[in-house]
Amino acid sequence: MLGGGGFRVPLVHRALLKDTGDAAGRCTELVLHDTDRARLDAIGAVLAHQRDRHTGPAPAVRTTTDLDEALSGADFVFSAIRVGGLAGRVRDERVPLAEGVLGQETVGAGGVLYGLRTLPVAVRIAERVAEVAPDAWLINFTNPAGMVTEAMDRVLRNRGLPGRVIGICDSPVGLCRRAARALDVAPDRVDYDYVGLNHLGWLRRLTVDGTDRLPDLLADTAALTSFEEGRLFGADWLRALGALPNEYLHYYYFTREALASVRSAGATRGEFLLDQQSRFYETARPNDPEQAHREWERTRLEREETYMAESRAASGGRQRDSCDLDGGGYDRVALALMRAIARDERTTLVLNVPGRGAVPGLDDDAVVEVPCRVDASGVHPAATGSVAPDQLGLMLTLKAVERSTIEAARNGSRRAALRALALHPLVDSVRVAERILEAAGGLR
Ligand code: G6P
Ligand code: MN
Repeated sequence: MLGGGGFRVPLVHRALLKDTGDAAGRCTELVLHDTDRARLDAIGAVLAHQRDRHTGPAPAVRTTTDLDEALSGADFVFSAIRVGGLAGRVRDERVPLAEGVLGQETVGAGGVLYGLRTLPVAVRIAERVAEVAPDAWLINFTNPAGMVTEAMDRVLRNRGLPGRVIGICDSPVGLCRRAARALDVAPDRVDYDYVGLNHLGWLRRLTVDGTDRLPDLLADTAALTSFEEGRLFGADWLRALGALPNEYLHYYYFTREALASVRSAGATRGEFLLDQQSRFYETARPNDPEQAHREWERTRLEREETYMAESRAASGGRQRDSCDLDGGGYDRVALALMRAIARDERTTLVLNVPGRGAVPGLDDDAVVEVPCRVDASGVHPAATGSVAPDQLGLMLTLKAVERSTIEAARNGSRRAALRALALHPLVDSVRVAERILEAAGGLR
């Protein structure tokens, strides 16, 4: 795990401890890599504490700050890094906000700035994987996950390793499961027709026993507003749209309101997390390190209400369903994916991979977020059928933004960086893009 000193690592470790499947497909060794030794030690202590209180098989855990050492011999490389740390995230938020446009981790100008900083490191990781662990599967959670996965895929493909990087995100699976439960149907019984790019997708059909149940859900206001996305977007707009958007589309469909609530919130999400996490890393104690981590998880639940722009408060202010946070997100997708590959257990997951024609209108190499069949041979995106013009239009625009960002990061091209920022639908003027670029500092 690259980014092994990160806050979500204990969730993944806990999920590994719960894996009671047959030994052949189980994780036997977990190597945590981080550039920061102190963070590694803090998280390492949490993991040791988890393992001490666990009976049954557990992966051996090792920590290292040496990338090649971490990679060599790995079957799966899990990349979840945050280049520039949370302080960088705060800058990505604050610089655009100072210009009156959205500042957010992955969406808008903030996402472009984050991409510019992250892509060179991600590319370097892909190069080392190709060199040191050419048989490994690379699972990317590093944001902005769409563009990072696409840049890593180019590196691996050029080295004869196509299809080896798989991008994951917990938001589509969360949406799918919440929608199924709103219909009172077990999530595993549903066939989900989801299409998009990372943090820019739509659930278009929920098929149960051959029948699409989305129309039923859209018609039922109580069911529709019983879950997060329903409340966030409102029944009226969802009926008009005829699909359930990923929560991140709130920034596009309710731009003014989202911006207003971010601006009125005082602290940004990054500032809140920076404060909270620095306290964790400073105070984690060997006697009960997990206690501090549980504390974080509790406040994470509490803060869900205000997370994703305090707009959620405006739409009812209810908290996210706890079962979506408790082991249901990040770790669930990662583990399900590794299991399907390692044990050749065929399954379908919404993942980020080059579309290879799955989405008409996007070229083969474009990384898209769609349902994929997964087994030991890898990840195979399912054909989505035609995409509504408004959805395809947004996808094409954002793909152009992603690719300009990749080009800028690769060549240090100011023009490409300016294009990436100015073409983003949430940056409302080229002048604004120029000033953001200036404030964020120095590309050629
Ligand atoms: C979801 C998204 C991730 C994002 C995270 C932010 O899980 O899918 O891509 O990074 O939310 O959560 P945070 O607690 O860091 O604001
Ligand atoms: Mn995500």
